[in-house]
Amino acid sequence: MSEYMIETRDLTKKYGTQSSVSHLDIHVKKGRIYGLLGRNGAGKTTTMRMLLGLTAPTSGEVKIFGKPFAGNEKEILPRIGCLIESPGFYPNLTGTENLKIFADLRGLRSPKYIKSALELVNLPYRDKKLFSQYSLGMKQRLAIALAVMHNPELLILDEPINGLDPIGIAEVRDFIRELCDAMGKTILISSHILSEISLLADDVGIIDHGNLLEEESLKELEEKNAKYIHFCVSNAQKAAQVIASSFGSKNVQVSDGNNLYLYDTDLPVEKINRNFMEEGIGIREAHLCEDTLEDYFRRITGGEGIA
Ligand SMILES: Nc1ncnc2c1ncn2[C@@H]1O[C@H](COP(=O)(O)OP(=O)(O)OP(=O)(O)O)[C@@H](O)[C@H]1O
Ligand SMILES: [Mg+2]
Repeated sequence: MSEYMIETRDLTKKYGTQSSVSHLDIHVKKGRIYGLLGRNGAGKTTTMRMLLGLTAPTSGEVKIFGKPFAGNEKEILPRIGCLIESPGFYPNLTGTENLKIFADLRGLRSPKYIKSALELVNLPYRDKKLFSQYSLGMKQRLAIALAVMHNPELLILDEPINGLDPIGIAEVRDFIRELCDAMGKTILISSHILSEISLLADDVGIIDHGNLLEEESLKELEEKNAKYIHFCVSNAQKAAQVIASSFGSKNVQVSDGNNLYLYDTDLPVEKINRNFMEEGIGIREAHLCEDTLEDYFRRITGGEGIA
């Protein structure tokens, strides 16, 4: 049995000549939250649609629960809960009535399925409010309730925090975490918001123009962030020469007349400061700094940041 709940190999989707998803190999481990991070148009929804058989891959393979998806759909799909397109809820029915329709379709007879799903997303059971009167956040919660109602092992959620206000986002984040930690679910979640993924995911796949650029644990990703010492001095050029001659390090970047970045963070700062003073270089500031995840994302995608 494979250790992965989802595994793709060389997964590719072309629309005409354009590759929306290109040779994607992703690995979603059991009992973890995997965040698929990418800008608008990166290929997140297309990937998820292929995982669920909603669109056929142009080439490549999908394995779910260790089995090829193709040919095993009937066994695999009931074990997955998904939020990928807005489900067709009826506007003139309440939330509970809407879930009841889906529960009947899935053969879930007991009302406890609906009750506990609504409880999880903080929506009232048997409330009188019609779906048409729901706020965007309530609609989104109901869609998540539908995804979890049949108690699936694996959840595939495409941008589940879309349209939510900050409090709603925090609540959804909390119950997604709970689904994983307390209920042992495996969750694949997509987002274009880096801070969201960094607050929620255990593992991260960064997708850009259909290509997977990185796949690793959030911890590894955070450790990759460059560390450096930032010196603000009276003469950065001369300071760089002092570092080169006194410590043999050329791992520096001079950004302008006053600012210098030293990437050999093990060098002794006090000694460097002393040498600067001896050479008549004034020091205004010296700080140990670290790139943010956003800096890292910008660096590897070679473009604009992602907030
Ligand atoms: N049915 C389709 N026909 C043609 N092109 C498509 C189709 N579906 C998606 N695409 C293209 O594939 C690319 C990836 O789209 P996709 O919706 O997967 O991105 P995304 O990462 O989900 O973006 P967003 O953050 O905006 O939801 C885009 O360039 C999109 O225009
Ligand atoms: Mg999308």
